Order: sequence, then C-alpha cells, then structure tokens
Amino acid sequence: MHRPLGITVSRHIMDLQRLHPGATGELSGLLSELIVAAKTISAEVNMAGLADILGMSGKTNIQGEEVQKLDEFANNTIKNRMARCGYICVMTSEEEDDIIPVAEGYEGKYTLAFDPLDGSSNIDFNVSIGTIFSIHLRKSDLGEPPVGRRSTDTEEDWQPAYGKPGSAEDLLQKGNKQVAAGYIIYGSSTMLVFTTGEGVQGFTLDPSVGEFFLSHPDMRIPEKSRYFSVNEGNYSYWDENMCRYIDYLKEQDEAGGRPYSSRYIGSLVSDFHRNLIAGGIFLYPKDNKNPAKPSGKLRLLYEAVPLAFIVEQAGGRAVTGDGRNIMEIEPQELHQRVPLIIGCRHDVDEAEDFLNGKK
Ligand code: AHG
Ligand code: MN
Ligand code: MN
Repeated sequence: MHRPLGITVSRHIMDLQRLHPGATGELSGLLSELIVAAKTISAEVNMAGLADILGMSGKTNIQGEEVQKLDEFANNTIKNRMARCGYICVMTSEEEDDIIPVAEGYEGKYTLAFDPLDGSSNIDFNVSIGTIFSIHLRKSDLGEPPVGRRSTDTEEDWQPAYGKPGSAEDLLQKGNKQVAAGYIIYGSSTMLVFTTGEGVQGFTLDPSVGEFFLSHPDMRIPEKSRYFSVNEGNYSYWDENMCRYIDYLKEQDEAGGRPYSSRYIGSLVSDFHRNLIAGGIFLYPKDNKNPAKPSGKLRLLYEAVPLAFIVEQAGGRAVTGDGRNIMEIEPQELHQRVPLIIGCRHDVDEAEDFLNGKK
C-alpha cells in the first residue's frame, strides 16, 4: 500500500516551535511526553476487554464517583510519566484530591491539569472515551534555567524557580492564560486534537507504526449547526429559560433550520469532537438535581477550560450561561464545577439570549 509521507505530530510541534525564535523546546518536550502517555493509554483501552481492566476499581474519587480500573490506569500512566518529564512543576488530576508534585529535581516551568479518562461511565460499553489536558506557564517567578551553581551564588540566590515545586496557585489560572490544551479521543481511531494558540490541529494514530499523523489541519467549527447535545433526563431539574431553549430547538421551523437533531453520547470528549467537526452545541447546565453540585457536573480546570481554548481557536464559544465566558473565570479551587455551554458561535449566542431572558 502506498503510504503518503504524512506529517507526524513531532514534526508539527517542531514547526510550531520554529514560529517562536525564543522557544526553548520545553513545551515541545512536554507535549511529546504527554503523547507517549496517550499512546500507552490508547493501547490499554483497545485491549481493555481482554486485559481484565474493565469494571470498577472498588474505589471512589474526590468527586464521589466510582473509579474505573481504566480511570486508575490512565491516571497513573500520565502522572508517573509527567512527574519526571522535567517540564512541569505541579499537576492536578480529576482522580486526585490534592495537587500532584513532580519528582524532586525535575521541576520545570509549566503546569498540567488533566482528566485522565473522560466518559468513564461508557468504558464497559465500548463507547468512545478520552483524555483532556490543559497547560499553563507557572505563575511563580521562573528564575533562570538550572545552569549549575555559580561560585558567586549563596544558598538563597541559587534557587531558580526551575528547582522549586509548584503549588495550587500555579494551577488556579484563567483559561485565557493557557499555553496549550487538547484531548485524545479513543474511538474508532485514536485522535489527538490540540492547540497552542495558533489554530486547532487534529492527528490520527496509525497503530501499525505507533505515530500520530496530521489528518485534520486547521480545524474550524461551523458557524451554525443543527445538532444539540444535552442529557434531557435532567429536563425537570433545569431552570425555566433552559427548558425554553431546548423546547425552541425542537420546534418545527424548516426555514429556520429547526428542529435540531439530538446527539448525546454521555462522553464529553466524544460529544465535543463530533460537534467540532459536524457543528453543534453541547450543554451541561446547572441543575437542582444534586444540591452538592449546584453548578452542574463538569469541572473547570480539566474539562471546560481546555475545550473552551480549542473551541475558541476553532471559531466557536464556551460560556456558563449566567453571563460568564469560560476562559475568563478566575478559578477558586482545583475541582471547581461550572455549567458548560460550548459549540458553534451562533448557537451559543442564541442559547445565551434564552438563558438571560433576552429571547
Ligand atoms: P468523567 O468520566 O471524566 O467523570 O466525565 C464524565 C462527564 C462527561 O464526560 C459527560 O459529558 C458527562 O459526565 C455525562 O454526564 P451524565 O451522565 O450526567 O449526562
Ligand atoms: Mn470528564
Ligand atoms: Mn474522568
């Protein structure tokens, strides 16, 4: 079979790096290590049914959710690999209550927030699941890269930030401060989709050579769509404006492109990925179903914010529905939840008009 040369993700990352003459290659290195972790998870996901790795681990996480064996595998794969990559100073994961320190002496200048396996409830049914990640520059003073101790340095002087562990403060930064964000979707094929602020690129894993090749250059979400993704089982828990908006999408108005079609997989990465390509609006609004989760189910740092960066880079929008843009929220805690309305610009604008009573 003739194989086109293909642009590998490593080649693409190097091209990105060349766009920034001052680049040190550390972000490239970070992404490359994360990609190795993703390939490891992909191989395990594809074997899950055979490797006795389906089902529950018997543990629950800080979210109060049962942890699947694959959640645990994915979490350990990422944190163990990234703890020694040398490019980050601290991590947070959906599966860990507190911050995850990196190995001593391996502190770098970035931070990593990740959802190791999104859509866990679908693992046992062979429905697409994914990993989501978000990268910031550490807030604390960077100091000089470790160049070895100078004779003039006193103990206090020679403490470059590179040598300093990061803190929760370094992780609690706005979405519009992100350096990079992306997801890997383990579906009919394994795809990596990410942005560093210069558009959105999609890569497909060729398992026969173990390499991601550029398959979806410069991804753009359609301006308007005919699909909506929401768990209508929560309809009776929504506020009135949210019900009105969904009712509106289902009305007959052929000229206006309604009714919309409903597409809901229950795996955020899969619903988001389909909407990014085909167009659509995804909603996980606040509801009064669970008093412990007044702001809806999804988490800000490692679900809403990374996908908001991607959708904005692709020409879409991401909001909470109560007047805030996801990318502008000042995080208060690691596992903070937010309502999420994300997708085509026209649809998110229209949803906001319903939710703030303008329509
Ligand atoms: P996770 O598996 O990382 O906990 O995320 C699950 C989330 C998200 O993937 C999806 O959109 C949502 O849960 C589905 O929730 P419902 O089952 O309540 O619709
Ligand atoms: Mn998730
Ligand atoms: Mn998860």
